[in-house]
Amino acid sequence: MDLDAPTRFGELDSDGMIERIGELPQQCLAAWTLAQELELPPPYRAVQHVVVLGMGGSAIGGTLLQGLVAGECAVPVTVVRGYVPPAFVHGPGCLVVACSYSGNTEETLSALNAALEQGVLPVAVTTGGALASLAQERGIPLLHFDYSSQPRAALGYSFTLLLGLLHRVGLVRDYSTHVEEAARVMTQWQARIEPQVPTARNAAKALAGRLVGRLPVVYGAGFLAAVANRWKTQFNENSKHWAFFEQLPELHHNAVVGLGIPRSVREQAFVLMLRSDLDHPRVQVRWDVTQELFSREGVEAETLEGRGESPLAHMLSLIHFGDYVSYYLAMRNSVDPTPVETIAFLKKRLAEVGPAEA
Ligand code: PA5
Repeated sequence: MDLDAPTRFGELDSDGMIERIGELPQQCLAAWTLAQELELPPPYRAVQHVVVLGMGGSAIGGTLLQGLVAGECAVPVTVVRGYVPPAFVHGPGCLVVACSYSGNTEETLSALNAALEQGVLPVAVTTGGALASLAQERGIPLLHFDYSSQPRAALGYSFTLLLGLLHRVGLVRDYSTHVEEAARVMTQWQARIEPQVPTARNAAKALAGRLVGRLPVVYGAGFLAAVANRWKTQFNENSKHWAFFEQLPELHHNAVVGLGIPRSVREQAFVLMLRSDLDHPRVQVRWDVTQELFSREGVEAETLEGRGESPLAHMLSLIHFGDYVSYYLAMRNSVDPTPVETIAFLKKRLAEVGPAEA
């Protein structure tokens, strides 16, 4: 697919993934408002631990939240991706937020049921399904949102609703101005990377073109580590493309030793360094040295910078840019960015075997 023939994108993108990507700023604004309307009983303001349950596109919001509020939230935020919550998940000091776009993900439902047996304070975040029904039956506070998309394309909801919830329970400040700034910054950048902007002036299309046939390895540090994870999963699910991610400074203690072998991988690898001028000062030094290492080893690498003032704007601007890159790579790979047939197959096969035990 020629990236400069956007009127033809619909031939591959029949479900309109490009519109969903374009709506990220509005999703964030709508989600923030929705979360502020949630009524919670008084015990929710005495939380000692926050645990987010979810998988895939519904878990990444929790990981982004962890990174964003790490320097501010006085209690731990843990993300559980699996059937069984850890033993520390018990009692009314533990806020357990079950996030599932569909409301039907078996790992998330099992973990929530197990947590409920431990007397935790639950909240459900979903568009419906079994999770919404369980919330109604059990009187669990419910952040219900209506947005028709793939789970990963509803990230504006799954991330910002969690941030709004943490504000509602008194664990983080009022992020209204940061959410507004992030939406503004995304919208400004979007005007320069939308489909109608030709490749010669469109950095997202140009980058996607350089990634064709390559192995993207996305690096991020601190609050951008989860953004690197998001890029990786968007390459997997939108572009149907192999991708990996690594975190700085941890990667300086292992990954950098294995850059040379196999040689074929070194030649295929394309490292994307997601940076911010808000990164820790020593991390900034490490980024520069990393670039030096790549030049020495002959590894192709490129830097992308977060935009705006607040960490939230840096995160969301890079997420939005990466979503566009993954979309254009899908076009170049001649694949429909929306369906995730392998995930659907796995869910169907698991259902055939029988229901998961609660
Ligand atoms: O991107 C996807 O479709 C998946 O990663 C899903 O998010 C994951 O399978 C969990 O489903 P849900 O988000 O409906 O809980």
